[in-house]
Amino acid sequence: MTLPKMLRDAKILAQQELAPRVFFLVVEAPDIAQAAEPGQFVQLRIPLGEFILRRPVGVAAVDRKKGSVAFIYRVVGKGTKALAALMPGEVVNILGPLGHGFHMDYEHPLIVGGGMGLSPLLYYAAAMQKKGDVLIGGRSEEEVFWKDLFDELCGEVFISTDDGSLGFKGFTTEYLPKILEDHKYDAIIVCGPDVMMRGIARIAREHGIPCEVSLEKRMACGLGACLSCSIDTTEGKRKKVCKDGPVFSAEEVFL
Ligand code: FES
Repeated sequence: MTLPKMLRDAKILAQQELAPRVFFLVVEAPDIAQAAEPGQFVQLRIPLGEFILRRPVGVAAVDRKKGSVAFIYRVVGKGTKALAALMPGEVVNILGPLGHGFHMDYEHPLIVGGGMGLSPLLYYAAAMQKKGDVLIGGRSEEEVFWKDLFDELCGEVFISTDDGSLGFKGFTTEYLPKILEDHKYDAIIVCGPDVMMRGIARIAREHGIPCEVSLEKRMACGLGACLSCSIDTTEGKRKKVCKDGPVFSAEEVFL
């Protein structure tokens, strides 16, 4: 289905630091709130002349009644630093919703994520209305602050940390086979670092479970026009992450 794309200025309703350098941004955008599907993203531009390219940011939450859309982003450079300095009442410019999101017809998916990859998964978990469990990975307890956000949205919440400061000690790829010993899932939905997605997709394949991945790629237009986000697929076709994705079947792409 092709959804309408809106280009609009959106007033900032709230901006909160969730963890060091990680911000939760809520903007007023009723049309985008109505149309956005889990896994889709917007191109976001802050109103500063020197930043020309828009930045892709996954939709983390929508409130259709209030007409608001939320994003979670990490401050990594000048653009996101300037974004973090904006106050409620100021505006950002957004284009979206863009791309294709996750399939929503699973009965009991396992959601797996690490780092900022958990942001679009938050919206997916909310839309699945507690049908899913989640496995959250991070280096340490400080990095899995996401637990509080997913607690209300998922059945079981599994945590792994590299240093063992919270939950299972080790990587998500080490924990997942243990979880699958006594839990059955009809899909695994993953977004995170490439190495995580590659490992999780391999385990999903070994267990015969369909797996969807959400790819992150440098983008320019976000509309399928400039080819800067093209990838090779296992079918031998080139596809565009911004238009054909960012969500793909793990079997379709090279991870
Ligand atoms: Fe231009 Fe994807 S960003 S085609």
